[in-house]
Parts: sequence; C-alpha cells; structure tokens
Amino acid sequence: MFMGLDIGTSSVKAILIDDDQAVLASATAGLSVNRPHPGWSEQDPQSWWRAVETVMDQIAASHPDKMAAVRGIGLSGHMHGATLLGADDMPLRPCILWNDGRSAAQCADLEEREPKFLSLGGNRVMPGFTAPKLQWVRENEPGIFEKTVKVLLPKDYVRLKLTGEHVGDMSDSAGTLWMDVAARDWSDDLLSATGLSRTHMPRLVEGLAPSGQVRPELCTRWGMTGRPVVAGGGGDNAASACGIGAVEPGSAFVSLGTSGVLFVTNDRFSPNVDNAVHAFCHAVPATWHQMGVILSATDSLNWLARTLNKSPSELTGALGAVGRPSDVVFLPYLAGERTPHNDVAIRAGFAGISHETLPEDLTHAVLDGVAFALKDCLVALEVAGTKVERLMAVGGGSRSQTWLEIIAAVLGVPVDVPADGDFGAALGAARLGQAAALGTADGLFAKPPLSGTIEPKAALTQSYAGAYQRWRPLYSAFKTAGF
Ligand code: XUL
Repeated sequence: MFMGLDIGTSSVKAILIDDDQAVLASATAGLSVNRPHPGWSEQDPQSWWRAVETVMDQIAASHPDKMAAVRGIGLSGHMHGATLLGADDMPLRPCILWNDGRSAAQCADLEEREPKFLSLGGNRVMPGFTAPKLQWVRENEPGIFEKTVKVLLPKDYVRLKLTGEHVGDMSDSAGTLWMDVAARDWSDDLLSATGLSRTHMPRLVEGLAPSGQVRPELCTRWGMTGRPVVAGGGGDNAASACGIGAVEPGSAFVSLGTSGVLFVTNDRFSPNVDNAVHAFCHAVPATWHQMGVILSATDSLNWLARTLNKSPSELTGALGAVGRPSDVVFLPYLAGERTPHNDVAIRAGFAGISHETLPEDLTHAVLDGVAFALKDCLVALEVAGTKVERLMAVGGGSRSQTWLEIIAAVLGVPVDVPADGDFGAALGAARLGQAAALGTADGLFAKPPLSGTIEPKAALTQSYAGAYQRWRPLYSAFKTAGF
C-alpha cells in the first residue's frame, strides 16, 4: 500500500493505492485563501496540517487494515509558496502563495542586480515565485525576515510535520528561483541576492528518493504498523505529470485547475526567459520540464459562476457544445498573468457585449478566453523550440467536454482524455512514494487508460484561428488603457 498527499490551493487530497496502483480510497478537506489586500494571496500553514490530519484520520477510520500495510507516502503541493519558519519551526507569518502579486518591484530589482536569475535560475523573476517574496519580506517586514531560520515550500512544511525533516525535492525547489536548475543544486549567488544562504534551505532530494519516515506517534494514530518512508515528491505540476505518465521527453499535458498549465517534459534544462516560459527540474532524475502558466483557468469560470449565482457545471451544462467562437471575448487576467506577459498588474475584461448577450455567451467567452491564453503559452513553448504533438487533459476543468473541444480546436492538437479515475497530482505523489519505498521506478509511471481523444475539428480550428488573431491584440489595448 502507498499513499499520496496533495496540498492543493483549495483542498488537501489523500489517496491510498495498492501495489498495482488501484485507488482504494481517497479523501479531501477544504482550504481557504485569504486576500488581505488587492493582489495578495495567503494561506495559514497550520490549515494545511489540520486538513492533512482530517483526510488521514478519515482514511485510517475507513480502511484500518490497509493503513497497516502502507510502506511509502509521496507529497505534492501548490508551488512557490513562501513558508517562513522561526528557530522553533513555527510559521512566522501566513504563507505567501503562488498567485500573490505583491513583489513586482522586488522582481525588477532582483533581475537587475543578479543576471544569474535568468541564466542559472532559467526563469524570469516573477512575483509568483518564492525568491522575490522573501525580498519583499526583507524590505517590508524586516523583523520577520531577521527571525527566519528556514524557508519551506507548502508540501515541505507538511513533510516537516509528518517526518520532522527539512527536505525539499528538485521540481518544487526549482520554482523558488534559488536553484542552479541545470545542476539540480541550490545557488549561493541566487540565495545571497535575497539575503539568504544554504542554511535557510532544506536538504534537496530527487522526487522519488526517500526524505524521511513518518513520525512514530503519527504511525500509531493512523494505524501504520511499519514506519512508511516519505518520498521527496514534487510540485503539483511535476507530480501530475508522474500521475499521467508524462515522464518521457516530449510528453505533454494541459491542466485546467485554479491555474492553467501547459506542461512538456524535456531531457535537458530548456529555458526561454523572453516569453516567461517556466523551466524547472522534473520530479524524476535527469529530467526537466517547461511550462506555460496562466493564473486564472477554472478560477475564471468560478468567478463567473459566483457572479451569476450558479455553479460552474450549471454554466457549462447550459452552454452545450459550441460550433463557433463566441462573439463576446474575455481576457482571463483576474490576477495578472505569467506566460507570456509576466504582468502582475493587468486585469481581466469582457468585450463585445450587446443587448442580446446572454449568460451562456459569457460562459462561452470565458472558456474561449482561457483557451486563447493557453494558445499564448503554446506559442511561447514553440518559440523555445518545443513541438507539442498531443496533450493529455487533467484538472477539474477537464470534466467539461465542451471546454476540451474548444482547447483542441484553439491549440490544434489532439487532446487525450483519461478514463474516469484519479490521475492527478495525488496519484503522482503516491507513485513517487511507491518508488521511494521500492527503491525503483521501473514500470511505475504508466499512462492512464483513455476514455477517448478529442481531435481538433478542421472547421472549428480555422474559425478559432481567426478569433485568436482578433483576441490577441486586446492585451496591449487593455494595457494601454491602464487595466
Ligand atoms: C506553477 C504554479 C501553479 C501552482 C498551483 O508555476 O504557480 O500551477 O503550482 O497549482
């Protein structure tokens, strides 16, 4: 038996798998995000641990015999969050999350002071990433900065509570921007640019290597008779890739979660800083990946659903299949944008609304707008020399067949849809836990069975190509107008 724990932005999920990776149980517990100022996004690290206790208690109660046989646990989590710990390992302030935009000024300053962020770090210094957040704390909360003894990513804080160890894995740690990503090691120069050193960082391990063992008192609480090994794990995107078997160079997926991600596995470190492509280590050794990341994917649909007082599935259900692009257009920049604009200040908007516009038209525009933003990511990856031949769809938004048809048409590639089941970051984490416990990854990262493939329809692809050309200049127009 093996387990995966995924610390998502809106919930923690645990799954239990058997030796053949069949999912025997899963449990989730909700999390909330605090936005104390416009553009800020924070979470209480203790809430992650309370949620982990809830889901683990639940599975322990429903599957006591299986829990006794758990040998390995893997961790996954939302990336880039700055969890600052004092000498007693207690959080000094709320975690500043991946979608927090407060550190734009620090980003510009760090890029100017330390060019190695672009060369060794391989990424633009963007406010979502961890390093500029620490620079913000250094400048704005010096008392807290002084007291900071360790900086951990969200899932690594959960690891600390689970095992007592300060450890980070390569994929998640690359997203701090303190790593020499090609060398898979911390960079002293990048750390010192933000007033930190290696002592502030956790020890690094590969995603499928052991990082510690579950504390004895937790084993007793959850009825784990062995002391399961905890794997390095991965950032949620690299872990999702492990969950759907996207570990071979060239394999790619689109994730429709809170954020939207276009992810491609590479056999080498392949940065493209000009178009704000993310270039990080993968969760498997000697492998890297590129991503285009948009900040509001299902978040855009959720926002519309809240505004119209409906659920997201009611909205997509009312829309049905679409035969052409929407007349109304939507720019999904509710929280700024990463790829390709690297623009924390830009805001979202609709255009083309008329007296005849119905709620369904707004839904259609939102689905199109997210698909167009993903097309921007695809173009950025192509500029970096990466060819995407086909994609697997993951994440909550991929349950909408209509959305996937739009995405296949806009991106012009076939979209594979996994058969019903759990193929996300929690499964990827569990697979990494299995690899750490068994000491081998052989045969563990299989691709899931498919329920089907959505081929781009030629006529729809053509009309969406025109619609994308009409949509694309709107970013500059919005920018110029000061949105
Ligand atoms: C990736 C990113 C998000 C988060 C939340 O760079 O910021 O995908 O990991 O899922």
